Amino acid sequence: MRPTPQNNATDKPAFYRLLNQHLSSLVEGERDWLANAANACALLGNTLARVNWAGFYFYKGGELVVGPFQGKPACVRIALGKGVCGKSAADRATIIVPDVHQFPGHIACDAASQSEIVIPMIVDDRLLGVLDVDSPDLARFDHDDQKGLETFADVLVRSCIWNFPR
Ligand code: SME
Repeated sequence: MRPTPQNNATDKPAFYRLLNQHLSSLVEGERDWLANAANACALLGNTLARVNWAGFYFYKGGELVVGPFQGKPACVRIALGKGVCGKSAADRATIIVPDVHQFPGHIACDAASQSEIVIPMIVDDRLLGVLDVDSPDLARFDHDDQKGLETFADVLVRSCIWNFPR
């Protein structure tokens, strides 16, 4: 068992290296996407400081549908292009929002959220969904978080068989 990453990291790259090693060991030998996504967001929820929601939306039937998460109950379905999640999925690009109140069309699930990062999950050109992390602090996420969480999503994507209906 690897040590739990420190959540008061001053050295973010080191924190994310440890976090992503921890995820790798957590999903090792397991290919079930739902099981691994559930454990992945539990890991995020228990290690990231200043985060009030961390979880997944999966791309099913032409829209995003909420998956495993840690945090308050969230809106279930998000159309492609809508909100931060829908835009990240449509553009297939990570979006960092320093102040959600300044993002046109932001979908407020938890009134506490002030900033947000959304990372698209893609395998072989198939959009699987997005990883969404929200913070009660403004400007919580920077380039180091982007790099660390993109690697996190990549570790998860490569660990699973994504056999849910599209
Ligand atoms: N804020 C997101 C919606 C999902 S919740 O934050 C969990 C958005 O604008 O897409």
